Amino acid sequence: MINVKQLRTKFPTLSHKAYINSGSYGLLAIEVRQAFERYLADRLESGADWGAWVQCYEDVRNRLATLLGANPDEIAVTASASAGLNALASALGFSGERNKIVVSDFEFPTSGQIWHAQERAGARVEHVPENDQGYIPLEAFERAIDERTQLVAITHVCYRNGARLDVAEIVRMARRKGALVLLDCFQSIGAMQVDVRALDVDFAAGGMLKYLLGTAGIGFLYVREDHIATLTPKASGWFAQADVNAMEVSRNFPSPTARRFQAGTPPVPNCYAALAGLDIILALGPLAIERYVGELTGRCMDRLLEAGCRLATPRDDAQRGPTVAIRASDAVELTNRLAVRNVITSSRDNNVRAMFHVYNDDGDIDALVDALLANRSLLRMQ
Ligand SMILES: Cc1ncc(COP(=O)(O)O)c(C=O)c1O
Repeated sequence: MINVKQLRTKFPTLSHKAYINSGSYGLLAIEVRQAFERYLADRLESGADWGAWVQCYEDVRNRLATLLGANPDEIAVTASASAGLNALASALGFSGERNKIVVSDFEFPTSGQIWHAQERAGARVEHVPENDQGYIPLEAFERAIDERTQLVAITHVCYRNGARLDVAEIVRMARRKGALVLLDCFQSIGAMQVDVRALDVDFAAGGMLKYLLGTAGIGFLYVREDHIATLTPKASGWFAQADVNAMEVSRNFPSPTARRFQAGTPPVPNCYAALAGLDIILALGPLAIERYVGELTGRCMDRLLEAGCRLATPRDDAQRGPTVAIRASDAVELTNRLAVRNVITSSRDNNVRAMFHVYNDDGDIDALVDALLANRSLLRMQ
């Protein structure tokens, strides 16, 4: 059992705010702040401790591998999720018959944009639309995925409404047609267990500033072992080479590992912070976090439904993640009014997003429900 009361003392912001916005940016833990400070102290002390920095970069990779259930050599540590996706896209070819990319309409814009950017190389992008209830049924994927599909790009949890896709079933559909699957797990990892082997995905991308409690400016790409040798990115750099110290200007010799999807100098300060954040998540255990957050958000949804609110997030536990999206008539204004009451949320699609993490508790639900009902005129009620 997670000791949430004790955990909350690591996050000073919680002493004065009901912070329910971790899908935008996770809270700063004391340990993560100390990690940043350690980086600065090291700079003052030694000037440039290159060896320690590279070790920290590798430690981030090792922790991510543990978290994802992968091998460290299957992980590229990148400057953002987009950077990893661009490197991956640059390695795929679209001139043959299999030039179709199936993209769910639950994707974060970067995922749609990067695949559309491949149209110049011959890619065809087909979107899988959501239905009137704000969900994407499996039949819609079944219709879109065919023998010409090279890749299916899906998000684990939708950043707009918190809906979760049935990854296992979509992977089975893709396999039947010989297509690869890319999972964007940015809105789930850290708050839910993401086991790339159990999910059987080919690629996974995300970053460290949300539920992984790290910082902006660092992300990752998982590439399943057997794909690495067959995929050579056109994006490269010295940290993508087989030997970073080779200093060969006359050729590109990509790493035999997923490091080939990296580029230049690692985001060193961000590695320090990311490592500290990852250590908190790993110590608590992703499955224990998922259970806690699942129950907490379930209670929150029940309270809101009983109070007559309308939710954009499916109530079914299997169809949702750590976000509860509440329908509003003016979500921007409502989010601002909640913030005045020290209830921190965000808005998308005219929904207020309450994005819970393991440090949230029932007191935060109380604060959210009270603040929402005090602004009832801005809600869309049942
Ligand atoms: C689901 C999802 N994917 C991708 C991104 C973009 O990540 P990055 O800015 O690291 O490229 C975000 C950012 O919020 C996101 O929520």
